[in-house]
Amino acid sequence: MKDFIAGLPKCELHLHIEGTLEPELKFELAKRNNLDLPYTTVEDMRAAYDFDDLPSFLSVYYEGMNVLLAEPDFYDLAMAYLRKAASQNVRYAEIFFDPQAHTSRGVPFDIVIRGLRRALLDAERQFGVRAQLIMCFLRDFQAEYAMATLLESLPYREWIAGVGLDSDEKGNPPAKFAAVFARAREEGYLLTMHCDVDQENSTKHIRQCVEEIGVNRIDHGVNALEDPALVEAIKERGLGLTVCPISNGYVTDSMKADAIRRMLDLDLRVTINSDDPAYFPGYVQENLVAIQEALDLSREELVRLQRNAFEITWLPRQVKDAYL
Ligand code: HPA
Ligand code: ZN
Repeated sequence: MKDFIAGLPKCELHLHIEGTLEPELKFELAKRNNLDLPYTTVEDMRAAYDFDDLPSFLSVYYEGMNVLLAEPDFYDLAMAYLRKAASQNVRYAEIFFDPQAHTSRGVPFDIVIRGLRRALLDAERQFGVRAQLIMCFLRDFQAEYAMATLLESLPYREWIAGVGLDSDEKGNPPAKFAAVFARAREEGYLLTMHCDVDQENSTKHIRQCVEEIGVNRIDHGVNALEDPALVEAIKERGLGLTVCPISNGYVTDSMKADAIRRMLDLDLRVTINSDDPAYFPGYVQENLVAIQEALDLSREELVRLQRNAFEITWLPRQVKDAYL
């Protein structure tokens, strides 16, 4: 089965580029930028990856980004991910980036997006993997900062497929960003939002995403299963769910394999993704292997997961059809 999964043409739709920053590259960038890290070895650094919920993960995730300062740093980060993705037969990826995690440290938006964009172009040529960017707003910052970031992105509109919402969900509901997402839609961006697993008010947040924001997709969204009317609304609108099993296992008590089985049985457009593979160890191949083993998925079911993913991509219909 591992070989079958390795051979499948894959699609990754829930991947934070800053969450692919492996310790080895972190050390290299720290050296390049003359920064001291509080660790001397890769093992020390990994040992400090000690988290058991979303906030404890996020603090390690944001601290790690301090080594990303110049355009080539963002380029190298994205090239490393796309090289790895291509090695796992990922044909297409939609990649989140968190501009505010950088602009809030004084790194200009232009530096971040130019480095990422250059990597996307080079990776398509060198590795044959196609990718698009999704700009995420940090939900624990004020909505005004998200709006300013949205406006700052407009000169680069053609380089960004859509917008998302991530970071700490507690006390930061989708509705907080209703005006930002309404404006983003007017500008032609497609919309997604994280509804992280087992949050306070999870189902309420998912309902806001679907009914108030009008998202085109939901990231995670596992708790929708608790509300049959919400499941119906998601099905009716054909919304995809980007689920991340290994990530789930780190920030909650389990991979949520049973929920993934139920989503398949309910014929929801569920997909399997890696989230932050440098921190929740496992790229898309390892996530698919983990869930195949947990659920004893058949080849047909594995193919279905990939078809779901290509179907819900933010690609033009005829490009999508070529993958399907
Ligand atoms: N949830 C919320 N914020 C994030 C995540 C996530 O899974 N990964 C990176 N930022
Ligand atoms: Zn995520």
